[in-house]
Amino acid sequence: MSNKKDIQSEEDIQLMVNSFYDKVNKHHSLSYFFNEYVKIDWKHHLPKMYDFWSSLLLGTMRYSGQPFPKHLALPLKKENFDDWLALFFETVDEHFSGPVADEAKIRASNIARIFISRMGLGEPVKN
Ligand code: HEM
Repeated sequence: MSNKKDIQSEEDIQLMVNSFYDKVNKHHSLSYFFNEYVKIDWKHHLPKMYDFWSSLLLGTMRYSGQPFPKHLALPLKKENFDDWLALFFETVDEHFSGPVADEAKIRASNIARIFISRMGLGEPVKN
């Protein structure tokens, strides 16, 4: 039995998102897309990602965007998604354990799989 708690609150979502992007910023290839290719404004991006994950995991419905076109515009390869997912799983597992933590990993995997498929980088998925 794990002694870690599940993702239950906005504070938990913020911890997950902040920890994940700390890892992204240190990553040898993923950091490039955010900090050089897009030159992301983190003050804007992080709250948007709190809304995204809060919508998916806590049902708050705060996010109403279109993530796919933003990713289609990036020169992504399949291995970038593998790295992204590995960091995301590592982040969730470092801090949390439980059904919502599992749901976070499942949702991330499914969205990544759909992006990969729609970008023509991998096997097609039925959706
Ligand atoms: C190779 C993996 C990925 C990379 C390098 C990446 C990179 C980025 C970048 C650079 C942006 C900012 C785009 C912009 O503002 O122009 C962004 C936005 C976003 N990403 Fe990703 N991403 C990846 C995978 C994913 C996955 C798997 C998800 C979902 C689980 C996701 C969810 C989002 C969302 C919700 C936004 C905000 C879109 C909006 O502006 O409403 N990303 N991503």
